[in-house]
Amino acid sequence: MLKDLFRRKTMDQLVAEAEQPEHRLKKALGPVDVTALGIGAIIGAGIFATIGTAAAGDATRPGAGPGLILSFIFTAVACGFAALCYAEFAAMIPISGSAYTYAYATLGELIAWIIGWDLIIEYAVGNVAVAISWGNYFKTLISGFGISVPDWMSTDYRTAARIPGLFDRAPHVFGVPIVFNVLAFAIVAVITIVLVIGIRESATVNTTMVLLKLIVLGFFVAVGWSYIKSANFHPLLPNGWAGVQAGAAIVFFAYIGFDAVSTVAEETRRPSRDLPVGIIGSLLISTVVYILVAAVFIGIIPFDVLRQKLATEQAEPLTMALQYANIEKWGDLFVGIVAFGSVVAHTAVLLVFQLGQPRIFFSMARDGLLPQSFAKVHPRFRTPHVTTILTGVAVAVCAMFTSIDEMVDLTNIGTLFAFILVCLGILVLRKREPHRPRVFRTPWSPVTPILGIASCIYLMMGLPAITWIRFALWLVVGMFVYFSYGFRRSRLR
Ligand code: ALA
Repeated sequence: MLKDLFRRKTMDQLVAEAEQPEHRLKKALGPVDVTALGIGAIIGAGIFATIGTAAAGDATRPGAGPGLILSFIFTAVACGFAALCYAEFAAMIPISGSAYTYAYATLGELIAWIIGWDLIIEYAVGNVAVAISWGNYFKTLISGFGISVPDWMSTDYRTAARIPGLFDRAPHVFGVPIVFNVLAFAIVAVITIVLVIGIRESATVNTTMVLLKLIVLGFFVAVGWSYIKSANFHPLLPNGWAGVQAGAAIVFFAYIGFDAVSTVAEETRRPSRDLPVGIIGSLLISTVVYILVAAVFIGIIPFDVLRQKLATEQAEPLTMALQYANIEKWGDLFVGIVAFGSVVAHTAVLLVFQLGQPRIFFSMARDGLLPQSFAKVHPRFRTPHVTTILTGVAVAVCAMFTSIDEMVDLTNIGTLFAFILVCLGILVLRKREPHRPRVFRTPWSPVTPILGIASCIYLMMGLPAITWIRFALWLVVGMFVYFSYGFRRSRLR
């Protein structure tokens, strides 16, 4: 039994299976597409929505204040260690299952299952958070054109409970107020349709959105720069290092996504070269953008003012900063441009993550750990349509009823855990197969993977206790599913 739990797939086996015609995906992506997919996944709700809370803090954690810049730098370094490990694996095992597949080849089936199950938190739960945040910004954007969506149709129960009078205004069925987020549902539905139609079309849509969001963030920095006041950077750490750590654990969400590049491995023309370029390149570009945006944001708004802002305003921090700057000429237009950029940025993140999750399910099904129908490829579009639709329905329905803060924290803990296992995988593989050809080598191993593991654990420690409990429960459910299905159906049996 114990031997079965740690059965491994050889790398040659993995690559051969992916080449079988009935499971083959269309190879259409080059290095620019892949880097754009990374940036598409990275820059989104994290920078546009969560930096307000990270800087100001909330009821359960201290704010970073101007130390937000340090939070971004620390998190970038932690992600950098993990990215180097991902790059080595992605170049060596260009299979769409990402960390799940790497674990299957190194740490054995049980750990691979745990990581695959865990990645559902990163991709699907992460997208639930992004869809909710998309809904908030979209609502703000269309309100600029005089279109208003009722609150009861654009929020979840838990958030609604905090908004005075909302339950009274909602329609009632048998005395129960009806509250749901139709905007979050709708965007996920549209994206699912795009993804079923095709990867090439999806990548083109993504590249356009990536350009737009980079332009809009550049615009924010250019406009906001002259409103920076040096006094706003003092004191640098109003809540000491604890504030920086808590801030880092939140803004980690902003960096998630460089790893999603590895899920299109089987659709990349030259994966061993293009995947490391995409993973590391997208992380580097996003880091520079984040540090600039964070510096301008912090430089415009004094920490004390930020803390007093309502939670809802903090959820749209960049537009709030421009409003605070009180720009005389075209101020409203500038706010509208940033809101528009935010909607586009969120859409790109949703696209890449909705694209990544089905490909992980697809790999798990191909290995027999999930039902075979999950590994079907559409005869005409050559996309994994069954898992794409399934993911779409699950994410859209959850986004209608859940609250963003809880989803962000849960996504962060799940993703950090996946990063730790990937770093661990590099250590194991270097020992077990030291001579295997590595097109890309993680530099300074074992130091880099060890530092990756340590920094991810440190970030996990910055998350609230309730998040740890939810995460543990999720893993317990995963164990139950594995032992009642995958363990017996695995193709390695
Ligand atoms: N990094 C992604 C975002 O910030 C998940 O939206």
